[in-house]
Amino acid sequence: MRQSLEGRLSGGNLSRMGRDKGMKIWAHRGCSQWYPENTLLAFGKAMEIQGLAGIEMDIQMTKDGELVVIHDERVDRTTEGVGLVRDFTLKDLRKLHIHAGEHKTQRIPAMDEVFDLLHARLASGMKLNIELKNSVCPYDGMEEKILDMVARKGVGDAVVYSSFSAKSMERIKALDKTAETGILDGKVSDCLYKLIGTGANALHPFWKGMDLPRERIAGYAVRAYFSGHLYPEKPTGTRLDLEGLEKQGITDVFLNEPEVYVQNCADEKNRMDW
Ligand code: G3P
Ligand code: CA
Repeated sequence: MRQSLEGRLSGGNLSRMGRDKGMKIWAHRGCSQWYPENTLLAFGKAMEIQGLAGIEMDIQMTKDGELVVIHDERVDRTTEGVGLVRDFTLKDLRKLHIHAGEHKTQRIPAMDEVFDLLHARLASGMKLNIELKNSVCPYDGMEEKILDMVARKGVGDAVVYSSFSAKSMERIKALDKTAETGILDGKVSDCLYKLIGTGANALHPFWKGMDLPRERIAGYAVRAYFSGHLYPEKPTGTRLDLEGLEKQGITDVFLNEPEVYVQNCADEKNRMDW
């Protein structure tokens, strides 16, 4: 049974969580605590949140070279299918159904569709972090394809690219020096080390990997990711101390349940039927 947004807010102390501070809140794989990750549904819910800094999502590439939005290299965890994304054509991949409870119509989105959904919000200040999932399957030409698509959609200023592959981020910068890029890794020290020579603008560490004094990372956007519960897992109700994270030099956080933390989240506008 879904709780109301108000009910879900009551589990935490909002001022202690830092909602009035400067921490920027992103929706990790969309609103992925209450909706299936990386779906149009989860992204649609995220774009309704006033004050959200951005949405994070993951891309893989199909056999016929199409960019699709899915976290894993395989389709097994999130759909009824079996196998690697790279072994499906887009047409066959689109026949699969996302495990989504009552939301039976959800499919693996094509990247194109996500831009169409988010376009107005991206044109009015919301950001999109596109994580290139290319460190396990190194997809040839992925960087060119996503840059081309972003340019065609005219949303280059809204996009932040990231990857665990520093080489991929170096390639993005080589193709477009105005592109904003972030280096992913567990520890912030490894992000910083991998960033050397890539021209990247940001560090994207695991939140428990803040192993450098904040002075060492001053000047970088430091966007931390978490390992929270994802739909349909049951939430624990744990609330983060965002002020404490800010003190460590973290500037942004990717959260599965961003609606609980975003400034104005208790406003009428955000009191929707979740
Ligand atoms: O980009 C931050 C975060 O999404 C990286 O981890 O596994 O959720 O893609 P993962
Ligand atoms: Ca990701």
